[in-house]
Amino acid sequence: MELKTVKKQFNEILKNSGVCDAENNVNKILMHVLNINKATLLITNYISSKNFKKAKKLVLKRAKHFPLQYLLKQVQFCGNTIFVNKNVLIPRNETEQLCEMVFKTAENKTVLDLCCGSGCLGLGIKRNANADVTLSDVSNKALRVAKKNAKLNGLEVKFVKSNLFENISGKFDIIVSNPPYIKTDDLKNLQVEVGFEPVLALDGHDDGLFFYKKIIDEAQKFLNDFGEIYFEIGLGQDKTITKLLSKHFDCIKIIKDYYNKNRFIYAKLKEKVC
Ligand SMILES: C[S@@+](CC[C@H](N)C(=O)[O-])C[C@H]1O[C@@H](n2cnc3c(N)ncnc32)[C@H](O)[C@@H]1O
Repeated sequence: MELKTVKKQFNEILKNSGVCDAENNVNKILMHVLNINKATLLITNYISSKNFKKAKKLVLKRAKHFPLQYLLKQVQFCGNTIFVNKNVLIPRNETEQLCEMVFKTAENKTVLDLCCGSGCLGLGIKRNANADVTLSDVSNKALRVAKKNAKLNGLEVKFVKSNLFENISGKFDIIVSNPPYIKTDDLKNLQVEVGFEPVLALDGHDDGLFFYKKIIDEAQKFLNDFGEIYFEIGLGQDKTITKLLSKHFDCIKIIKDYYNKNRFIYAKLKEKVC
C-alpha cells in the first residue's frame, strides 16, 4: 500500500477525533510499527498490509485518546529509555528538568526518589551522576516497571516498597519527589489522555497537598545534616509548600519550568541548634 495514502487516512482519523498534533502522532506510530527513524520514514513509499493493520489498530486506539506513550511503550528521559505502561505515570518534560537539577549536584551523594513510578527520576540521576540511588513507591506494579527500567538501562539502584517513609531506613543527602498533587475534585476535569493514567499517581487528596505535608513532616528524620529536598509541585501550590518547609528547612527556592511556571521547590535542612 502507498504510505502517502495511509498517512492521509490515519491523519484524518486522528484529526476527526480531536487528537492534537495528529500528523506527529501518525509519524510516531508508523516509525514504531516499521521500526525505522524519521529520516527513513520520509523516504519510505510503501507499507505491507500486515504493518498497515498493526498501525491502524494503534491509530484507532489513539483516536480514543489512549496516550501515545502507552501505545509506543516507551519514552526517552535524561538519557534513559523508560518503558511505560498503564501502571505508571507517563514521565513529563518538566520532570526531566527536575532530574537534571538533581543529577548536577548528586555526585557521590545518597539520593532517595520517593514516589518513583516508572523510575524516570531516580534512574535519570543514576545515569548522569555517580550517586547511590534508592527508588521507592507504594505500588508493586509501579515498582515492577521501575525495576524493569533499571535492567533495561543497565543501572544499579536500590528499591524499597514503601508507603512514603514507612519502610525507608537510613539517611540520605538528597530526597527528590514528584508525588501525586492533583486535587481529588479536579481529577474529572483533566485531559482525556490523563484519565488513562493511574489515579494513585495523580490523586493528591482534598487540597492536592496531602503528600507534601506528609513528606515534609518526616523528611528531616531521613536526611543527613544539610540534606536537600527537591519537589515537583502543582500550579499554585508554591506558597503553601514554602510555608510548610520553612519550619525545618531554609534556602527555600521556587524554580520555574521551561514554560515559566513555578514548578519546583528546593530546600536545605536547617542547621541543628544544640
Ligand atoms: C506523580 S507519580 C510520579 C512518578 C515518577 N516519579 C514521575 O515523576 O514520573 C506519583 C507516584 O507516587 C506513588 N504513590 C502514591 N501514593 C504513594 C504512597 N503513599 N507512598 C509512596 N508512593 C506513592 C504512585 O504509585 C506514583 O507512582
